[in-house]
Amino acid sequence: MITIKNEQEIEYMRESCRIVKETLDFVGRNIRAGMTTKQVDELVYKYITSCGAYPSELGYEGYPASSCVSVNEVVVHGIPNDRVLEDGDIVSVDITAEKNGFHGDACRTFLIGEVSEEKKRLVKVTEECFFKAIEGLQAGVPLYNIGNAVQTYAESNGYGVVRALTGHGIGREMHEDPAVPNYGKRGTGMRLRAGMTICIEPMITMGTWKVVQDRSDGWTISTADGKPAAHYENTVLIKEDGAEILTL
Ligand code: MF3
Ligand code: CO
Ligand code: CO
Repeated sequence: MITIKNEQEIEYMRESCRIVKETLDFVGRNIRAGMTTKQVDELVYKYITSCGAYPSELGYEGYPASSCVSVNEVVVHGIPNDRVLEDGDIVSVDITAEKNGFHGDACRTFLIGEVSEEKKRLVKVTEECFFKAIEGLQAGVPLYNIGNAVQTYAESNGYGVVRALTGHGIGREMHEDPAVPNYGKRGTGMRLRAGMTICIEPMITMGTWKVVQDRSDGWTISTADGKPAAHYENTVLIKEDGAEILTL
């Protein structure tokens, strides 16, 4: 179901999203080589709960942690564990927070120490994919223009676009309709409406766009060729005359 948020609900979304943004800033100031991904998760849990919010990935369909911490070839849903962050790694930290019954959701890919130029470019282009997608975004725009913008920009830079996972609506549920793919045909799909809140989240790979899911943990999604991937996500409010990024 697609939900249209009223003013009060939008205020609640703003607050959850502000907490998500601040948490990611806090992680960015503290993440470093030598830390385990579990220690990153502890930072996330502490910060979100100190804001009176709940890290809503924890327990979501049985997910065992407060964040997804995905290193290098892991695209998304990396379960925090004893893996030690090393100089040169790129690390996506994807978090959600719920307060007053509403969720915010965002992801940043952090650079650990000295990162190669080619990985840095991947991270930069992934962020730029998001900003290409929100250019001209407002009520009335066809949904698949978003994916088309991401795909066009990523592929013109020689990168792959993950198909197996998509962005999504968000609100009282972490995942609401519609699905927001990172690929698609311009001019197609439903027309966006004011009051919709959606997550736009390009997942971009250096090599193949094909991914594999870890059979033993049931969560970790990695590139099929083992090459690096990056992820960038914000929660966005659609308005009559534009789009407001709630997690920036
Ligand atoms: N934050 C993720 C997203 O962007 C969802 C992660 S669900 C979890 O949709 F259970 F894996 F944490
Ligand atoms: Co997310
Ligand atoms: Co999301």
